[in-house]
Amino acid sequence: MTITTIDEIGRHVAADVEVRGWVYNLRSSGAIHFLLLRDGTGILQAVAARQDLPAEVFEAIGALTQESSVIAGGIVREDRRAPGGYELGLRRLAVVQTAAPYPLTPKEHGVEFLMDHRHLWLRSSRPRAIMRVRAEVERAICDYLDERGYVRMDTPILTPSACEGTSTLFETPYFERRAYLAQSGQLYNEANAVALGRVYCFGPTFRAEKSKTRRHLTEFWMVEPEAAFLDLEGCIQLAEGMVVFIVQRVLERRRKDLETLERDIGALERVLPPFPRLTYDEAVALLKAQGHPAEWGEDFGGDEETALGLRYDRPVFVHRYPTQCKAFYMQPAPDRPEVVLGADLLASEGYGEIIGGGQRIHDPDLLEQRLREARLPREEYAWYLDLRRYGSVPHSGFGIGIERTVAWICHLDHVRETIPFPRLINRLYP
Ligand code: 4AD
Ligand code: MG
Repeated sequence: MTITTIDEIGRHVAADVEVRGWVYNLRSSGAIHFLLLRDGTGILQAVAARQDLPAEVFEAIGALTQESSVIAGGIVREDRRAPGGYELGLRRLAVVQTAAPYPLTPKEHGVEFLMDHRHLWLRSSRPRAIMRVRAEVERAICDYLDERGYVRMDTPILTPSACEGTSTLFETPYFERRAYLAQSGQLYNEANAVALGRVYCFGPTFRAEKSKTRRHLTEFWMVEPEAAFLDLEGCIQLAEGMVVFIVQRVLERRRKDLETLERDIGALERVLPPFPRLTYDEAVALLKAQGHPAEWGEDFGGDEETALGLRYDRPVFVHRYPTQCKAFYMQPAPDRPEVVLGADLLASEGYGEIIGGGQRIHDPDLLEQRLREARLPREEYAWYLDLRRYGSVPHSGFGIGIERTVAWICHLDHVRETIPFPRLINRLYP
């Protein structure tokens, strides 16, 4: 007798195996119970025939409740009608725990109800498919960067200062002083990049986002590559290559999950290089022509990003944003200091920004001036200014948001479904 997972059951046709899992569904017709079992890897039909089992086991199977945990033993049979193509002819079944009446039934539930039961909802087929895609996206990003010589370096979560503006900082007591949860690992990555050349961090990041949108979490995961001697053009190419690589990898390895999610596969297959590029100026002109009240100088909101993204069948880069609407560290364009050498990548199908980044200021005086203009305390950034004093070089990097990327690839309505336990302005439970 072999213990197997459901995804491997096809290797054991005609053999006696044991499967450990949970009851997904039960149907009975007199002398036969059809039990659907799930174990995290798949769903298996187990068939209990009265004549194959001791009477008390047969009765116990008939009384099983949804999500009861069981150890089921029997013979694997090929059966084209069964989900997955195999079924288990039950010979043994041990109940590990009989589940109380399960709150999540196959009927439709409202989103808030599902969110309150996220700890149970994760067992359903749709969240399971999304989580597998998420894991694949994370692995693809790391593979892509590892293969290109980027060294993963973890950056701090507890920090003394802001990276992405002071309005979304989470503050926490830190002994006799206060600390902030990291909004980004970028500033530390810039130090790391001078030490190791090419680096990336992959961590949770926190923003006290007061906006309730389908794109904002207060805790999200971001991968941030940073490289010395990389300019904006190199940065855009790195980002484009990464996004193509991620989509190809998910198409190759997680197609079944995309099918579970009823994702339009063709739309993902069109995500090929080169991605279109717009300057911010061009983007504003296009938006105005479409009747959007876009004003030069303002960062785009969700509606503008959606409108721009919907123009193309693949993601679009918008570059050279106004200096006044971007972070203090962005390098102004040498010929035109009112715009910065930064770029955002807006996903197709209206999903908005998934990547933000660009070239950083490498001149110490200019950086000091920008810190002053942003009213950021110099003392907190003394170490960051040091980087411009000792072997400063042009350098660039970007951040890719895992949740927004997964929401786009899976074509979900809201980022809350892309992370096991989402944190939103109004949700800290479970
Ligand atoms: O554009 P952002 O704010 O850029 C930075 O944090 C830079 N320091 C990155 C860098 O250059 N190293 O954020 C980058 C990405 C966004 O494009 C988006 O995908 C994601 O992070 N993001 C969020 N995702 C979910 N919820 C939020 N509140 C997010 N804020 C940003
Ligand atoms: Mg951004």
